[in-house]
Amino acid sequence: MSQPNEVLLPRPVTASKVEMTEIVFPNDANPLGNAMGGRVMHWIDICAAVCAGRHARTPVVTANVDNIDFLNPVPVGGIVVLLASVNFAGRTSMEVGVKVWQEDRATGTRKHVASAYLTFVSLDPVTKAPRTVPPLAPETDDERRRFEAAKQRRAHRLAQRK
Ligand SMILES: CC(C)(COP(=O)(O)OP(=O)(O)OC[C@H]1O[C@@H](n2cnc3c(N)ncnc32)[C@H](O)[C@@H]1OP(=O)(O)O)[C@@H](O)C(=O)NCCC(=O)NCCS
Repeated sequence: MSQPNEVLLPRPVTASKVEMTEIVFPNDANPLGNAMGGRVMHWIDICAAVCAGRHARTPVVTANVDNIDFLNPVPVGGIVVLLASVNFAGRTSMEVGVKVWQEDRATGTRKHVASAYLTFVSLDPVTKAPRTVPPLAPETDDERRRFEAAKQRRAHRLAQRK
């Protein structure tokens, strides 16, 4: 594992992408028979944490979750697919974007369920202090667009914290 002051090589977005799949069980549902928002948030947090941890290769903690919009309900039995990728890497923090889909079993088509941006901080496993993460190397036009948008959101978050 790298040391705090070591120069870290940039990592591509593809190196840490995560796809996670769940089925909505009765235990995940609200009284209307659809996935509870809290359960979807739990899955989002796990999927994003794995993604951030893959980029940093250290333990990570959730520092911030931006607005989550729930666009469509998923009924019990529905297949939920979560896609996470690192949008931006700062000094010790990373923004991860997660998009949640419902996958139709018969056709394979996907319906957008929710989206969220989360900020994770990499921690040194021994000292538990924030630890430097590798820079992100966006390669495609989409990745560069997400990188720039995430940089602006980060500036906005930092301004709000002050
Ligand atoms: C997240 C945490 C490690 C940050 O510690 P800290 O002492 O504030 O660290 P710093 O001020 O050095 O900030 C470290 C980085 O995190 C970012 N950060 C800290 N709090 C943040 C927040 N609320 N939103 C967005 N970014 C945040 C900083 O901008 C900085 O990013 P950079 O290094 O890329 O510039 C600390 O607040 C913590 O442990 N929180 C609890 C995390 C947790 O337990 N999560 C699980 C749910 S409770």
